[in-house]
Amino acid sequence: MENILSIPFLKHLSNDIAVDLGTSNSSISSDSTSIKFSESSFAAYDQRKKQVIAVGDRAKKMLGRTPPYIKIIRPIKNGIIGNKETACYLIAYLMKNLKLSNLIKPRVLAGVPDDSSEIERFSVLEAFRLSGARIVYLIEQIIAVAIGSDIPVMEANGNIIVDLGTTSCRVAIISLGGIVKMQTTPFAGEYMDKAVSEMLMRKYNLLVGELTCEKIKLQLGSAVKLDQKSSMHVGGRNIKTGLPDSATVWTNDVFEALSEPVNKIVKTIESCIESAPHGFINDIVDKGITISGGIASMRGLDRLITKKLGIKCKIAPEPSFSLVRGMERILADKHLMKFFFNSSQDRLSSLK
Ligand SMILES: Nc1ncnc2c1ncn2[C@@H]1O[C@H](COP(=O)(O)OP(=O)(O)OP(=O)(O)O)[C@@H](O)[C@H]1O
Ligand SMILES: [Mg+2]
Repeated sequence: MENILSIPFLKHLSNDIAVDLGTSNSSISSDSTSIKFSESSFAAYDQRKKQVIAVGDRAKKMLGRTPPYIKIIRPIKNGIIGNKETACYLIAYLMKNLKLSNLIKPRVLAGVPDDSSEIERFSVLEAFRLSGARIVYLIEQIIAVAIGSDIPVMEANGNIIVDLGTTSCRVAIISLGGIVKMQTTPFAGEYMDKAVSEMLMRKYNLLVGELTCEKIKLQLGSAVKLDQKSSMHVGGRNIKTGLPDSATVWTNDVFEALSEPVNKIVKTIESCIESAPHGFINDIVDKGITISGGIASMRGLDRLITKKLGIKCKIAPEPSFSLVRGMERILADKHLMKFFFNSSQDRLSSLK
């Protein structure tokens, strides 16, 4: 089949799909339909009917508002399938939105964490195969993130990339298409939401849901102290009285709550640079640090990193889509495909 599909005029019959299965958000794109689609990585499971009743943004909106027999699940954690059945629903839903022809099953490229085990990688492969993929290629997320952030990863250079997602902050130095050094810390989006929640309880005796904590972080969050203060009115439950209550939360409250995870992120980048082989240090200082992932858009984070480390930090173009952009580029470039995957069989890893 692959030989036939490599004939130029038959090539258009096959679709190539790039899929980022993120903990909070999943993105998918296809070369043939030029559609890029992104939704929340949530699924709602009805334990009485024993079936998935909603996926994506619809399921996320149900969070905290379900009867006890409906569970809101995040089927994916950091690129790894936690719950195969719901993950397959989510993947099928993402693929449906690409409006592909059903003639020939697609080739899929998906990202997995560099430290994932063979079993974890196998379950990602299986989920895609069950969802209708013809061939599944897996690549270390951080390499595709760097490619999608316009970093020339194939050069013999110390390129430093930081992916700031929901479950972790991943820092890597990449040269000649491979990871030279990598450091990871759990101080990322989810940890920040918890820090906001703890601040609300400590300061205002207020208990609020996780979606509200994330909303506060997105609206008021900042890595640097802001001159212009703004606020948000938040409703929840008073932890002392158990009754409904509300409070006005200020930018400064959120800045203080986020300062610990933000500083840990800066420290992780610093420590990765410190552990880099000497030959890369000049390159890193010359080329600077690129940040990607959802948190890269946090106000002032690039400025803070630049100030604290004395190395220019820039935000990747479309930072939330760096992974899927990188995978689109790999799929479209036969040299990169050959470099990362030298056979047309399903590959468990790009580097093995
Ligand atoms: N402007 C912003 N400021 C702060 N945090 C943000 C901002 N925009 C998005 N985020 C946070 O970024 C996180 C999502 O980022 P992203 O989509 O890169 O993660 P993911 O790929 O789903 O997770 P992971 O890579 O850990 O599996 C969420 O915690 C979200 O609240
Ligand atoms: Mg991610």
